[in-house]
Amino acid sequence: MPKVPTIDSPSPGSATEGQLVIRRPDDWHVHLRDGAMLRAVASYTAHQFGRAIVMPNLPVPVTRVQHAKDYRARILAALPADTTFEPLMTAYLTDTMDASELSSGFGEGVFTAAKLYPARATTNSQHGVTSIAAIEPVLETMQRIDMPLLIHGEVTSPEVDVFDREAVFVETVLQPLRQRFPALRIVLEHITTQEAADFVMAAGEGVAATITPHHLEINRNAMFDGGLRPHMYCLPTAKRERHRLALRAAATSGNPKFFLGTDSAPHEIGAKESDCGCAGIFNAPFALEAYAKVFAEENALDKLEGFASEFGPAFYRLPLNQEHVVLQRQGIDVPERLPADEGWVRPFHSGSTLPWRYRGLA
Ligand code: NCD
Ligand code: ZN
Repeated sequence: MPKVPTIDSPSPGSATEGQLVIRRPDDWHVHLRDGAMLRAVASYTAHQFGRAIVMPNLPVPVTRVQHAKDYRARILAALPADTTFEPLMTAYLTDTMDASELSSGFGEGVFTAAKLYPARATTNSQHGVTSIAAIEPVLETMQRIDMPLLIHGEVTSPEVDVFDREAVFVETVLQPLRQRFPALRIVLEHITTQEAADFVMAAGEGVAATITPHHLEINRNAMFDGGLRPHMYCLPTAKRERHRLALRAAATSGNPKFFLGTDSAPHEIGAKESDCGCAGIFNAPFALEAYAKVFAEENALDKLEGFASEFGPAFYRLPLNQEHVVLQRQGIDVPERLPADEGWVRPFHSGSTLPWRYRGLA
């Protein structure tokens, strides 16, 4: 039986009382970047999470086993030598990906999963997949060896409205893909719509989804709040309020098909605040605080542990973390900006106070 989180004195408005102890969480979708940015951001994720599924969309994508080994070594080199954080590496699927490269990487325990970026859907996806038909042999292999497929679920045709791209993907790409490969285990990443949540709920056991803190908190109006707000822009973009509410319901439902994936995606402030600014919200430094806020607002703090720490490992067939962490009901101020990559990054919730504070390992 999962350990039931303890919640002491959760009286609303109390500044210092109230503590939540949960099994140490994992982040099932993060962008750690490379070089100076990696060195600036890796410790935020390692501080809050036991493991993370690391996205492979580097400028030179992680398509080979050796790339993943080297990248993993760079991640660990960016962290203190005694870190207990475990980066779980992913392969970036291209039209020309060799199935044997994938299966040997998976067999060796280097690749935990493979990521499908539709070509040109998002940051560094220009080498992505142009059609499912192009990667059929790869998907057949993945289904056979039981290697999870992680999907950025958006169509890219310019005729499709940007706010419809996920729902159209679910209907026109994912449904047929699921029928063609019924035993392939799939994570639909960073879902943003009721349609995606409904698809995942209705699909069989092998289909799950990650949900970001920002999609639980903002709707599309946040991008236009009194002016253009580039720091609220990510892909898939936030949708209408009814979708945000559907995501909150899914995340706090206790349904093991929905689990934590921050999609923390740092870009230097100048790259966000620019003509053609980059997509991505940097939420790693206060990720658990952000999720705790949402679960508290939904009176569902008792559901946070399953979402953050249990359902992901169950899907990936990995052991649960043995450590526990403490969250305390005590306001924490999120800075306006943090140093990174010889410049600055803006964290999600910058300039505001979050009601729950992550205190570290129990
Ligand atoms: C991600 C990035 O910047 O790498 N951006 C984002 O808006 N989420 C890519 C992605 O996951 O789409
Ligand atoms: Zn992402």
